[in-house]
Amino acid sequence: HKPPTPSSTNRTDSRAVVTREMCEARGCCFIPVSSSSTSSSSSSPSGRHGIPWCFYPEGFGSYSLVSVNDTALGEEGRLVRDTKTYYPGDIMTLHLEIRHETNTRLRVRITDPSNSRFEVPITVPNATTKADSPTYSVELSKEPFGLIVKRLSTGTVLLNTTVAPLFYADQFLQFSSSLPSRFIYGLGEHRSTFLHNIQWTTLTMWARDKAPGPDGEMTNLYGAHPFYLAMEEGGDAHGFFLLNSNAMDVALQPAPALTWRTIGGILDFYVFLGPDPSSVVSQYLEVIGSPAMPVYWALGYHLCRWGYDSSNATWDVVKSMRNYGIPQDVQWNDIDYMQRFMDFTYDPSRFSTLPELVKDLHFHGQRYVMILDPGISSTEPAGSYSPYDEGLKRGVFINDSDGNTLIGKVWPGLTAYPDFSSDVTHEWWYDNLKRFHEKVPFDGLWIDMNEPSNFLDGSTNGCPSSSLEDPPYTPGILGGLLRSKTLCATAQQKISVHYNVHSLYGLMEAKASASALQRIAGKRPFVISRSSFPSQGMYSGHWLGDNRSQWKDLYASIAGIMTFNLLGIPLVGADICGFGEEPQEEMCVRWTQLGAFYPFTRNHNGIDMKPQDPTAFSPLARTAMRQALLLRYSLFPILYTLFHHAHVQGHTVARPLMFEFPGDVKTYGIDRQFLWGKGLLVTPVVDPGVDYVVGYFPAGLWYDYYTVSLPHSHRHSENNGVLRLQAPLDKINLHLREGVIIPTQRPNITLWVSSGQPLHLVSALSEDGSASGDLFWDDGESIDTYETNQYAYIVFDVTQVRCAALRPPCFVLILSTAEPDRVLVNSQDAAFTYRANQVRPS
Ligand code: NOJ
Repeated sequence: HKPPTPSSTNRTDSRAVVTREMCEARGCCFIPVSSSSTSSSSSSPSGRHGIPWCFYPEGFGSYSLVSVNDTALGEEGRLVRDTKTYYPGDIMTLHLEIRHETNTRLRVRITDPSNSRFEVPITVPNATTKADSPTYSVELSKEPFGLIVKRLSTGTVLLNTTVAPLFYADQFLQFSSSLPSRFIYGLGEHRSTFLHNIQWTTLTMWARDKAPGPDGEMTNLYGAHPFYLAMEEGGDAHGFFLLNSNAMDVALQPAPALTWRTIGGILDFYVFLGPDPSSVVSQYLEVIGSPAMPVYWALGYHLCRWGYDSSNATWDVVKSMRNYGIPQDVQWNDIDYMQRFMDFTYDPSRFSTLPELVKDLHFHGQRYVMILDPGISSTEPAGSYSPYDEGLKRGVFINDSDGNTLIGKVWPGLTAYPDFSSDVTHEWWYDNLKRFHEKVPFDGLWIDMNEPSNFLDGSTNGCPSSSLEDPPYTPGILGGLLRSKTLCATAQQKISVHYNVHSLYGLMEAKASASALQRIAGKRPFVISRSSFPSQGMYSGHWLGDNRSQWKDLYASIAGIMTFNLLGIPLVGADICGFGEEPQEEMCVRWTQLGAFYPFTRNHNGIDMKPQDPTAFSPLARTAMRQALLLRYSLFPILYTLFHHAHVQGHTVARPLMFEFPGDVKTYGIDRQFLWGKGLLVTPVVDPGVDYVVGYFPAGLWYDYYTVSLPHSHRHSENNGVLRLQAPLDKINLHLREGVIIPTQRPNITLWVSSGQPLHLVSALSEDGSASGDLFWDDGESIDTYETNQYAYIVFDVTQVRCAALRPPCFVLILSTAEPDRVLVNSQDAAFTYRANQVRPS
């Protein structure tokens, strides 16, 4: 018996208490770990985040690679196992395929050659030729089978699956790999720091309606994203994506290593070679699809709450926001607007003025978004609620294993669940939305409860006994059962059993919703979804769910926002000021300041909580909030341009510092600060009762955004980059990185109004007097403007500046949307040349 060493650290069961007898019967090693040594890194009462006490010895049975052939894209081989494992349904012979898809992308598929198994139905690139000069090498170990992937330029081992046996049984697929460092990110959705803790952290993925937290509790949450980004020594980065939607665990281990453990589908994974974090994300998004270009008003301020009693109460808040001159583009309603919480209805008495409210919003250049839940009430008298009647007729609902409509329970009471894996359902969803839109001309959709959430476990009839309901191994999901607060795993959907497609529900609903909206309005659709899966960004944004009005939730939101940016859903935000509990005024001010820099910025509040919109606070707080939102509105041109780059190049919008400074290890764990794009550094206050904030300033010169025309700057060399900044209650610290030009705009209370305002450029010259930046500009709402060439893309370049005081820290240009008559530099007429779509200051 060996102690758990890096080469054998694979737990055989994360939940059950394994006795020596059980462990040894499986051919494993048993070393009891004292409770003191398991509890230190564990917050779970069962200690399941602790060190394993039952683990695989070296030489534990695995597969052998018995043949290999070259193929047009790489290699293929046959894997054979001669001893069975302790899981039922071992697939004794497997097909291995290695595809050198591009020079920076490797794909490996391990499938069952005799039976087809479930595969995730998202469209991925279909490579047809082998990469001509890959930046990686793949070595195959035959006995036992394993894969070693190296980065050719440095020899770094990115993946080494020889560290533990491969399992490939019908309902238990497991492999492990070493990691080149402890710096690993992604793997959503969990309430976690940005940088994961590899001290025996198990991250479970299975979409789940669960409020995030408390701190340290890392249960599965709303979305499932089996993708990680890892840093290597020297600052290179790579990515790994397991294209699998079944319930799974990812067990992080201090070796450093990790184990993937999924209970269905196939093993189909990608390695992305980067070599920098930004290119890793771009390469990942080439596979799963890049985020949609949002409609312009998506980037404005959104106001929402659960518990506006009436349309008039909602309207009052809008009017009050206008009176105080506080920016607001979008007003939302939660389930309150519905009649008995039923989709596609509005309450005829409390919300009788809803159509007028929406018209008034439109009149003021504002927009309206409403919530929809997937559960369709099944108990209205026949003939009185057509979404259900028609849905039944058209066969749109998910069935139980006997082929009857599965009934669960959500806000309206008993409900049926639309099967968004079927095109028929998409058409029915569209028809209902279109009909409702004729009454209430909403502009966007908030799709909630789509894990899908169920107040019951499974259905009103429970769930049948089946190996799908109670698989031989259940990942560490909250509640311990796949059906916990959702549908039966045996429920039947068009493309497969719920067991396989559960975590895809939010993705498929978002797809149906975005396409319906696009058909109805002919504009870019706006959808915000709670549940998400890779490629979600093509159809919707996301919010981080039911946080609380606490400082630690404010702080945790930064990690959440950065993580979703690297997962390809840049349009993401957290409920500003918190959903549950009552916020203090100071916290709500700080949160509004931080929220002004969420790519998606929405204040949302729980039922029964006191109002927490900006108008609910003291003049001092209100003014500070207004100021933060005006600041955001003034930055709309750069934000919009960053979304263009997310859409076209797969870039992040809210960007971790380490993406821009991968050579600086000190940035690897930073999740109290973030960047917009490459050069706008946001340093929010995340603690109570302080009027300063400590920030880290990586190499280079950083200009204070507010005093940008004055020589007030920070250099990394001062105090090793760590600086204490003043942060009175009405200020969020913002810095511009040298060499960056950002386009800004005079703000107004809506983006529509402000889009007619003159644009400005703020240029932060580098030491040598140069800077560059760009602007993407179009009509803000037409579909595919980039793809159809209906846009302006302007590049700004300052290449040389000769001013008296050399290096004036700021250089401002005023630019009009039409051909400018004059260009002023420091209030003086300056010579310039003008070319359509391109301006180069001379
Ligand atoms: C749960 C959502 O997460 C929350 O934002 C919403 O207010 C409630 N459902 C009520 O619809």
